[in-house]
Parts: sequence; structure tokens; C-alpha cells
Amino acid sequence: METEILRGDGLGVTRAGELLRSGGVVAIPTETVYGLAADALDPDAVAKIFAAKERPADNPLIVHITELEQWGPLVESVPEEALRLAEAFWPGPLTVILKKSAAVPLITSGGLDTIGVRCPSHPLARAVIEAAGRPLAAPSANRSGRPSPTTFGHTLEDLWGRVDAVLDGGSCRVGVESTVVSLAGETPRLLRPGGVTEEQLRAVLGRLEVDPAVTGGLAPGAAAASPGMKYRHYAPKARLELLDGSPEQFADYVNKAEGAYALAYEEMLPLLTVPAVSFGGRFDHAAQARELFGALHWLDELGAERAFAPLPSRRGVGLAVYNRLARAAAFRITRLPGPWVVGLVGPSGAGKSTVAAGLARRGYAVINCDRLTRSPGVYDRACLEALCRAFGPEVAPDGALDRRELARRAFRDGASVKRLNEITFPPIVRAIRREIARLGGQCGPVLLDAPTLFEAGLDSLCARILAVTAPEEVRARRIAARDGLSEGQITERFRAQMPGGFYEERAGFVIENGEGADLPAQLDRAQSVLEGRP
Ligand code: TXA
Ligand code: MG
Repeated sequence: METEILRGDGLGVTRAGELLRSGGVVAIPTETVYGLAADALDPDAVAKIFAAKERPADNPLIVHITELEQWGPLVESVPEEALRLAEAFWPGPLTVILKKSAAVPLITSGGLDTIGVRCPSHPLARAVIEAAGRPLAAPSANRSGRPSPTTFGHTLEDLWGRVDAVLDGGSCRVGVESTVVSLAGETPRLLRPGGVTEEQLRAVLGRLEVDPAVTGGLAPGAAAASPGMKYRHYAPKARLELLDGSPEQFADYVNKAEGAYALAYEEMLPLLTVPAVSFGGRFDHAAQARELFGALHWLDELGAERAFAPLPSRRGVGLAVYNRLARAAAFRITRLPGPWVVGLVGPSGAGKSTVAAGLARRGYAVINCDRLTRSPGVYDRACLEALCRAFGPEVAPDGALDRRELARRAFRDGASVKRLNEITFPPIVRAIRREIARLGGQCGPVLLDAPTLFEAGLDSLCARILAVTAPEEVRARRIAARDGLSEGQITERFRAQMPGGFYEERAGFVIENGEGADLPAQLDRAQSVLEGRP
């Protein structure tokens, strides 16, 4: 079959519309991944999608529309919960499954009595649906079993000679396929995580079940709620394995593994001596989602036979990344050897120390970094000399540190604080490493209570990061009661700290410790993070 290459402009869209109206198959960009489109209501056209992808006939397709009015004819009814989802997330990366109407042929729904409908936001996808003048069935535009294509090039690579045309829309913004939620059962059910997060769905629906296949493999013989989940998916050619531990432990392990390639967060690249492909920063889930499938393609291009990736966080869009990577790795997940360190962070007044004390009472090893910096011997001679050069000899008269004087001079302005940190962080980090080595050997997990975890680069020692947060008013009241500070002083202190959201964005787990929080329940949660449970 000859494949036309269409530019992502008016002419290209018109031609795509023509081909689709006459029963053709055209690969088009969407905001999630490229899709392979055909007239959803024409069984012969839909059959061409299955043939081009070599897709099993029982794996249903998603139908794409541009307006709410186009939904009704495709389904038995549109319940109120569905309208709420559409209102909140359409156009965008969300597919809603409902009981289908007789208008939708069984080949489109893979033989099921339900149909997934999605209203994409990508301007080219919308223009093509409008030009075709009908709802378009479109699975991801990859050959079955391959990673979904997020670029024009990858789409061509998989479908050249197998489809009527491919429309060039550059790279996809979201990078993982849409979130799939089913409203066809008793309770709304998340079948596939994507750009719309579990947390966002809960906020709109109030109730949500998460299908076990989202985070785990399907047990042999078990029926899949979403047929796509039973197929080998997102598979690179390499044997991929996920490693659970800190970035440093990851690098140590992979650097020693024979013939290994790494799929790693950007921050890990300097630590790695093996060939590595990055997919976003450790704390930037959106970038991870956007870059993941491209990175899997790179592993193939490099000829990797054995590759390792870090086990992603499951928070927010992270859950979608976790889901795709775990599948690409066929759920091979290994806990790395060495001390298991959990970083504890949070703004002042949130109750970090209360959580740390509670965990210490439950028998866990806790390193209190503030206390450690005050212990004698942490600041060695070289460090004291550097402090004197930077802030004047008065900060360490007769070779003994005068902490008050140092604080007075160093906390004057941002530049001075930065200088102070540059001088003091290295010896502090060395002391913390010694302490971890001492504790981690025997005591199991170690909680690292470190207010400046990220600034000091200590996050690279942590397998998990746990944040304790509370609303600003609550924190202000607690600080006023505890430290007897005035309103002005509290405002000042808040301003000197990281902006709101800083810790939540970076933590894999967040404990909301507002007024009336249930401490024992929170400690249970923190304990399960320390134990490395999901
Ligand atoms: O972002 C996306 O959703 C992309 C773009 C092109 O829109 N499409 C996409 O389609 O990812 P596909 O076919 O590759 O994945 C659809 C997934 C499959 O796992 C399928 O089994 C599931 O959704 N699915 C579709 N209809 C379903 C239904 N009626 N019941 C349960 N699962 C369904
Ligand atoms: Mg697919």
C-alpha cells in the first residue's frame, strides 16, 4: 500500500478528511500519542486498523469526537457523572467508557457492549475529525506490542506502507495515552492511568476504584477489565528491569552490571558510566511521561539487550509513567542492596518533627540533620577557615565556631546564605553519609529528617521522599505558639523558605497534617513508606 505523507496544515487536514470519508486509514497526531484513525461506524474501515496494527480482534478501540452532542448517539445514555468528567477534562487526555449504542459496530468495540469515547484537544486531531465529519476510531498508531509513537518519525517507522496516510504533527505534548475510566459498572473504575490523574478524577467523582492491573500484572487466567492490559505492551527489544532504591544505589548497581544500558532521570546521568538515555527529571512527572516512549525507542536504536530504569513514583502523572514502565519491564522489579533511606521534608510548622519522633518511638532509626550539624567535629578545620574567610574571623575566634555570630552574618541576604551552604554542606553531607553507613547496616530503614534535603543534594541518597505539609495559616499558628514569633517575623520566615508546593511536587508521598489530623493513622502511612511498601 502506498502511504501519503501529509503536512500538518489545511491541505493535509482536507486530504486526511477525504481519505477517512472514503473508508481509508490515516495516522494522526493527538495531544497524547499518535492515533491510527478510521470511520468508527464503518466496519470495513475499522477492519483496516486491526490489519495495519496486527491488533488482536478482541482489543476495543477508542472513538474520538469534538463536541458533546456527538457522544449521545454512540452510547446508551450519558449519565451525570460522565458529563461532570467531560466538563472537567474535555477536550483532553481522558477516555470515558459507557454502554454502547447499536450504532457502534461490534468490531469497533472488540465485541464488547461498551465503548470508550474521548474528545482530544490537539488542534490537528480536532480539525481532522471535523473534516471527516464523523467520529473516528483511533488506537495508538504503533504496531501491536511496540511503544506508542509520540513523534511523526516513530509513527512512520511502524506504519509505513500499511496505511493510507500519516499526518505530521511533530511531537505529542502529553506523551502517554489517555486516562481510561469506566462508568459502565457500579463504581467508576480507573483502567489506565494517563495525563488526567487519579487525584483529579477523585476530586470530580468523589469515588473511584483503581483496577489492580494499573499497578500489577494480570494474574494468569484472570479476566482483564480492559482487554489491552492482557497483551504484552510498551515493549522495547531490551530486557528491561526496574530498580527500587536511591539514585546513587541505582548508579552503583547499573555501572557494575555487564552490558547494561540505563533509562534514567536527567539528574542521574552524571553518576552513570554505562550508555544511558534520560526521560525527564526525577521530580518532573510530566516530562517523564512526555519523553518515556521516545526513550524506549532510543534503547532499541542503541541495540540495548539489557536495560535498567528506576522505579517511578506513583503520584500524579507519575502513576501513568509507573504503569507503562512496569509493563515494558514485564513487572520485573528489584530492590537495590544497601541502606534504605527515606528523606523527610516539609515547610516549618507542618509537623515534620512530630512525625520523626513518632517513627523513632516505633523503633526506626532517625537521623536529625539539624542536630547533626550542631554536633562537635562536623565542621573540620578547613571548613572553619573557609567560614572565617567568607564571614570574618569573628565567626570562629580561637578555632571554635560562634554559631550566633555566624547566623547573624550569614543570614543577612540570599548571596550570603548561598555562600554559607557551599561551605557547610559538604562536611554535613559527609557526616550524614557516615551516619547512614553506621545505621543502615543493621537497623533496616533509616529516616533522614533534613530540612535542606534538596539544597544539599541529599535526595540522591533517598529511595523515597516523604513530605509533611499543612495549610499556611495552621503552620503560622503553630510557629507562633512554639517559637513566640510575631506575625511579621513569621511572614519573614515563610518568605525565606521554599515556595508553597515545593515539597509536595518532589515527594513521592505526602502527609497532610492540618488541624485535627489523625496522628496514629499518619504514622502508619509514614511507616509503610519507610518499609518500602507502595
Ligand atoms: O490517548 C489515547 O487514548 C490514544 C489516542 C490515539 O487517542 N489511543 C489509545 O488507544 O491509546 P489504544 O487502543 O492503543 O488503547 C486503548 C485502551 C486499550 O487498552 C483498550 O483495551 C482499552 O483502552 N479500551 C478501549 N475500549 C475499552 C472498553 N470498551 N472497555 C475496556 N477497555 C477499553
Ligand atoms: Mg495502544
